[in-house]
Amino acid sequence: MSKKKGYKNHSFIEDGKIVLIIGASSGIGKNVALALANYGAKLIIVARREKKLIQTTRQLRKLKIKVLPIIGDIRDRDDRARIIAHSLKKFGRVDVLINNAGLGKANLFLEQPISEIDELIETNILGLIKMTKLVIPIMKVQNEGLIINISSSLALLPVYPFAVYCATKSAVRTFSDCIRDEVKEYGIKVSTVFPGPYDTEFHKVAGLDDSSFQSYSVLKLAEKIAKLVIKPKENLIQPWFYIPLIWIATRFRFIKRKITLPISKSIMEGKIKKEKLEFTKKEEKLKIVVKHA
Ligand SMILES: NC(=O)c1ccc[n+]([C@@H]2O[C@H](COP(=O)([O-])OP(=O)(O)OC[C@H]3O[C@@H](n4cnc5c(N)ncnc54)[C@H](OP(=O)(O)O)[C@@H]3O)[C@@H](O)[C@H]2O)c1
Repeated sequence: MSKKKGYKNHSFIEDGKIVLIIGASSGIGKNVALALANYGAKLIIVARREKKLIQTTRQLRKLKIKVLPIIGDIRDRDDRARIIAHSLKKFGRVDVLINNAGLGKANLFLEQPISEIDELIETNILGLIKMTKLVIPIMKVQNEGLIINISSSLALLPVYPFAVYCATKSAVRTFSDCIRDEVKEYGIKVSTVFPGPYDTEFHKVAGLDDSSFQSYSVLKLAEKIAKLVIKPKENLIQPWFYIPLIWIATRFRFIKRKITLPISKSIMEGKIKKEKLEFTKKEEKLKIVVKHA
């Protein structure tokens, strides 16, 4: 197996640590799995779409990686229990949990159906908290572990029209910050990742027309997250130039009010899929009819 230069002496490679990645059938999770394959990790990969997860499994096995695929939905209590049971049966431990499963929905809060709000909260925050709750006791017994929570740059710099998504990702950030001190004494570390826009299925799932969307290569981000597994740090903002951008925009509120929000509003309006806008317009008419009836 080929090992990346510069990380050869790290115990991670020698130990062949067990990494559990939630949401590895596409995008960031899949590419982190492939990046970690280069570092000798043993992987447990989870997602709902069987076909896509098996594709990832095949790619990893070609690299001679020990991988356990588990089809599961982190919103489901039995699935979460099954993920843990199968992981322990196969490998006997979990060294790293990557809470990556998540989705966004581009929708005005006033227009957003409750079912969409439920999906965002149940996946992005409840699923993540409940997976963490199951894995921490295992790491406590091991007296070591690492939890990587995938938040978003939108947790730091909220934009239009992602109110509920931004709220879930801020919750991920706050949750990570709160448990970090609590689990430190058991040798467990907690990292939070704040990605900007990357080329995954995220935009399609969110209902954005991504054909002209400016996004960055997910390969580079995946490599950075894989390195985080080897050398953990509390926060990772990517791409790097989002660090000064976020710093400036959060310190000077007028920038957010006068620049960030209006710009994101005009950009997003052009990118929300046309069918969605038409649907919204129809809804608007319906409301007026009801009002005057
Ligand atoms: N790409 C970006 O621009 C960006 C920016 C900031 C943050 N993020 C965050 O990065 C994470 C990964 O997203 P991505 O960009 O890689 O998008 P993606 O390509 O859509 O990947 C999302 C992954 O999560 C899995 N997933 C979703 N709901 C799940 C559930 N209930 N149970 C189990 N797995 C589930 C999906 O698999 P199945 O559908 O097969 O279940 C898929 O593997 C998300 O938390 C997202 O919010 C992305």
